[in-house]
Amino acid sequence: FKVPAVENEPMRSYAVGSAERKGLEAALAQMQQELPFEVPCIVNGLPIRTGNLAKQPIPSDHARHLCTYHEADESTVASAIDGALAAKAEWEAMPWNDRAAIFLRAAELVSGKYRYKLIAATMLGQGKNAWQAEIDAAAELSDFFRFGVKYVEELYAQQPPKNSAGAWNRVEYRALEGFVLAVSPFNFTAIGGNLPGVPAIVGNTVVWKPSPAATYSNYLVYQILAEAGVPAGVIQFVPGPPPEVVAQAISHPNFAALHFTGSTFIFKKLWKDIAANLDKYKGYPRIVGETGGKNFHVIHKSADVRNAVLQTIRGGFEYQGQKCSALSRLYVSSSLWSSGFKDMFLSEVAKIKVGSPSDFSNFMGPVIGRPAYDKIMGFIQKAKDAGGEVLIGGTGDDSKGYFIQPTIILTKDPESITMKEEIFGPVITVMVFCSEMWPNRLTTFQVYVYDDANYEKTLELIDNTSPYALTGSIFAADRKALLTATNKLRNAAGNVYYNEKCTGAVVGQQPFGGARASGTNDKAGSISIFYRFVSARSMKENF
Ligand code: ALA
Repeated sequence: FKVPAVENEPMRSYAVGSAERKGLEAALAQMQQELPFEVPCIVNGLPIRTGNLAKQPIPSDHARHLCTYHEADESTVASAIDGALAAKAEWEAMPWNDRAAIFLRAAELVSGKYRYKLIAATMLGQGKNAWQAEIDAAAELSDFFRFGVKYVEELYAQQPPKNSAGAWNRVEYRALEGFVLAVSPFNFTAIGGNLPGVPAIVGNTVVWKPSPAATYSNYLVYQILAEAGVPAGVIQFVPGPPPEVVAQAISHPNFAALHFTGSTFIFKKLWKDIAANLDKYKGYPRIVGETGGKNFHVIHKSADVRNAVLQTIRGGFEYQGQKCSALSRLYVSSSLWSSGFKDMFLSEVAKIKVGSPSDFSNFMGPVIGRPAYDKIMGFIQKAKDAGGEVLIGGTGDDSKGYFIQPTIILTKDPESITMKEEIFGPVITVMVFCSEMWPNRLTTFQVYVYDDANYEKTLELIDNTSPYALTGSIFAADRKALLTATNKLRNAAGNVYYNEKCTGAVVGQQPFGGARASGTNDKAGSISIFYRFVSARSMKENF
């Protein structure tokens, strides 16, 4: 059999008066009426109510919370691991067409029946506006499942190199021995689905710890997977205190792999913890992580100013800059800066409306929570104290929700701490993006204006002032300028864009991930990542 051809899920526009707009508004109104929801842990398909209650707030509205959830305790995590190990043999042995059908069905449920509910949960709980939530919880999530099935079909179809006379050589791609731990972030509902989804499609069973700040949308994703037919025990949903849940899972002798998106700091810590446990395990665990970024736009003097300005605003301020891929340092040619870029940039940013995502006219919503708010505001103050010039923004309002105005800071020092290093306070560096425990993603641009003659030197600065290498964009009409940047920045970003913002990778179109301190560069949304969750067996049979 052959899996049907897959296409990217078409994006809806939610134009005023359209049926889709009305559908989404109705789902949002219903959710606002019914909240707060109750979310249990789910182990072996059954709800577990530990009674250790925690709340998922609504970051745009202090008066209410989205859900109360039961945090997994030690015995819940232990049952989740035991259940995942017990469910594995049957899941792995299920014919591939059945596993494929389950995930294709899940994609249909995401893009159809549950679309508006998932979007509404992402808007309320994670503070995305309708279009950002559509990209994430509807399009990217269903794309991950559909393309995932297609990639696994390709993987299983890989042929061994050749046969010799009288012998038949085969390679089979088996699931890993043990269970997989998935630790997902707050900022993409789609990543919530993809982190357990990737290992499960190839026959692994997974213990999934979602981000506390995305509990409800991720619970809906779990329910969709169960409705689509993922058997009990294959994906165990264990929201809970991150350090405890994760530590218990990685100290288990049957721990086989970590699929992680979150902060660099935590990823490095987990890697070290895994190393410390190595002698306990049967094998060498696979460690797959997508972590921080310090992403750049470089604007050459030949660039189209309007495009560069608008893409820069989108790259930096969509979803309040809370994407691991978001722009945070901007390098602009001096001639462009003074001949229109700066004025257009500031006047466009001044038009940005910040407020509740339920009001569709707001381009920006809240940041994810109190720690994020305080640290971002603290950072703005630090930048001012260090002589940075706040060109626009710099203020916040936490009276009703965690709202921060889009902020642009001009620096003359390309090596200043804010261009290369961002301090999170006493423990963690601010360069930790996509952090789920300390979700402090800056909403500030640092702008460095360079002399046109220094283009190449500027590219060297971009390469050298950050340990990260996630995304970056080069804006130029001049082909030579693009080529120079492509060569000089060869290791500076896992995803490079030309005359386009540095966010918004599409599944199947731009495999996503970075190297250096940004992750293991296993490329979400491509076939590569599936190889990390299988163990190949070569077989030779003589006749
Ligand atoms: N994959 C997301 C993006 O490219 C993070 O923006």
